[in-house]
Amino acid sequence: MKKIFVLSALQLVLMAVGLQAQTIIPNPQSQSDMENKTEDVKVSDLQFISANDPSFASDIKVFSEFMSKMGYPAIAQKESATHAIHLIKDASLRDEEYRMQCKANQVVEIRGGKDGVFYGLMSMLQLIEEGQRQVGLSVPQLHDFPAYSWRGMHLDVSRHFFPKEFVMKYIDILALHKMNTFHWHLTDVQGWRIEIKKYPKLTEIGSKRKESIVEKNFDPYIGDGVPVEGFYTQDDIKEIVLYAQARHVQVVPEIEMPGHAQAALSAYPEYSCAKNMMEPLTKWGVSNDVYCTDDATFRFLEDILDEVMALFPSNYIHIGGDEVPKDRWKVCPVCQQTMKTHHLKDENELQSYFIKHIDAYVTSKGRNIIGWDEILEGGLAPNAAVMSWRGEEGGIIAAKQQHKVVMTPGDYCYFDHYQGNKNAEPLAIGGFTPIQQVYSYQPTPAVLNAEEKKYILGAQANVWTEYIATTDHVEYMAVPRLCALAEVLWLGDSKPGWIDFKNRLRVHFSFLDQCKVHYANSIFDVTTVRNIVEGKVELTLESVYENGQIQYQMPDVDQAQLLLYKKGRPLVFKRSGKLRAQYYEGTKELGHLLEEEILVHKALGKNISSTIEPSSYYNEGGLPKLADSKAGHAPRLSSDWLGWSGKNPAITIDLGDASKLNNLDIYTLKEESNWIYLPQQITVSLSTDGINYIALKTLSAKEIEDAYGVDNKLSVSLANTKARYVKLALTCAPKIEKDKPGAGEDAWVFLSELAVN
Ligand code: ACM
Ligand code: ZN
Repeated sequence: MKKIFVLSALQLVLMAVGLQAQTIIPNPQSQSDMENKTEDVKVSDLQFISANDPSFASDIKVFSEFMSKMGYPAIAQKESATHAIHLIKDASLRDEEYRMQCKANQVVEIRGGKDGVFYGLMSMLQLIEEGQRQVGLSVPQLHDFPAYSWRGMHLDVSRHFFPKEFVMKYIDILALHKMNTFHWHLTDVQGWRIEIKKYPKLTEIGSKRKESIVEKNFDPYIGDGVPVEGFYTQDDIKEIVLYAQARHVQVVPEIEMPGHAQAALSAYPEYSCAKNMMEPLTKWGVSNDVYCTDDATFRFLEDILDEVMALFPSNYIHIGGDEVPKDRWKVCPVCQQTMKTHHLKDENELQSYFIKHIDAYVTSKGRNIIGWDEILEGGLAPNAAVMSWRGEEGGIIAAKQQHKVVMTPGDYCYFDHYQGNKNAEPLAIGGFTPIQQVYSYQPTPAVLNAEEKKYILGAQANVWTEYIATTDHVEYMAVPRLCALAEVLWLGDSKPGWIDFKNRLRVHFSFLDQCKVHYANSIFDVTTVRNIVEGKVELTLESVYENGQIQYQMPDVDQAQLLLYKKGRPLVFKRSGKLRAQYYEGTKELGHLLEEEILVHKALGKNISSTIEPSSYYNEGGLPKLADSKAGHAPRLSSDWLGWSGKNPAITIDLGDASKLNNLDIYTLKEESNWIYLPQQITVSLSTDGINYIALKTLSAKEIEDAYGVDNKLSVSLANTKARYVKLALTCAPKIEKDKPGAGEDAWVFLSELAVN
């Protein structure tokens, strides 16, 4: 009791004199009890830095460079008894552990292991920035260390090329948040970006593509006519690796094989199965052209890996392994012979054979491979680590087989997904991964036992750049979600929770501003909660931060009329229309403008059944979603839609009472690049008793195509017929045609709302 009282009293005093707790991200593991703090050092009083060991020279240099990038006066390096940060090597602490303590004579001691002192300095940078705004801010007493050893960020430089200087800035952003791994995706179908001396055509040819597809214009294809080229010389790479090392970041290079290889094969088609001429792809997606499995190709890849391993000192070399179409292998005499010779029963085993060969080679050089979870298919190579991206399943299987795992499941770790109001976010590949979701991530699956859990090294986020062409946009996608992931990985089970984090993040934005990071402000976006109440839609507006206000505009009112939202009070929609809402602090708009369509109709909240359930992949919210007042968005957000494939559903809406029906709006999606097709046929039938149906109309593929509009809507007249039940029998498109994305697979039908009026 006494202790708590002492603490609170001290906190009250601190509050009274205007002092607040520091807001470091990731939050330090522990702050020593305040009563143990015998000395008080003010952040603003620190003028000097010194060290007990010459090995800290690099850390001090990097710290000074950060100070200068942030526009702060240099902290002089000087042996000084007062007003100093003193760095101490402490062999009793683990590599990444540090302690920060206030000592007599206005000295702050940071003692730590090999990396820990640097992390102490990174905390100090955030304190110094905060000290600029909070006069009299005291240095806290910290004991800090990470929960996970792999705290990573990935960057795809193949789809778009980013200059060396930006790669360094990206590494800075990692280091400032105590992330320690930069996964550099250097090669893919659309560009090869690393100089290989033995094979100069890899960059002469493979680093250049004619143009890029415009947005999502796959079919018909529209290109922008703007060439994309660029690569990193070996000198650039050496410089970047050293730069990262100085920031305690390991660089893990990724050289994709056996798929995602078209840029390499454009330069050296002799290592493909078909030996055909090709060019780096100008649109997004995988290519059927993969490496052949003959000896010459293995020699080629080993030569490349030799140069890669000479450049990158990391233990792990990422060899890709994801998304390997087997089409070429199936018809290649050489690959079929490889399968016979090695008694491989199918092409999955051939893929596994391929990876095992590379695994043995890399292992013979004293390194380890890591690959995407497809490397599990056909059997895992003996020394391989697995990067689990298609959910956590692959990681769980690998850990149970005693292989090391890095988690990077799409739902939490794909930072190419949308993060805020989709009407206002820049075009993205799809998905919705807001920062709250990132923060909720727990990298260690509960299904693993204690022994298996040890194989989870940590996690990383991936920034694929198909739709990200500029460095500012990379920063926007990466930050602040990176801040959340950094805390997930630093603290593991002891993270203090979303409310605590978001409040610190609010302060941390000033630090990011000072570091000139172009972060996304999507966290400020207004969100809505909808309820269907007696055929009407009630919307409650919410914002993550509550210091400001929400202004909103109802449909059908004077465009200039903005109303102040009263927290918690629902807005009632009796008719369809668009709501606009914006979060403000003072006169400053923060976040994006929300624009949301609300559909009010007779089927709202009514019972819906289907002969075939939606696929488990696209069934979030289940069938009630088809009458929840929300039309789905394109570009597709999977959570907006229900999806069927391979089977034809008949969906019935029970309106509860019979009434005259005018119209049915079917919200469906045509996004053939993502395998989503319009239905081939729709038959609409009506009934008053749910037994006897009268077929009102059958729409052909052509009629559906003609009636389908820009708002993903297809209107069918119900001819003022009295009915209680409305039934739609849908025929899905057949298997996808040759040469289209997903060729040979079942097409999908997507629905988001069935609006009956
Ligand atoms: C991946 O996203 N294809 C690893
Ligand atoms: Zn082949």
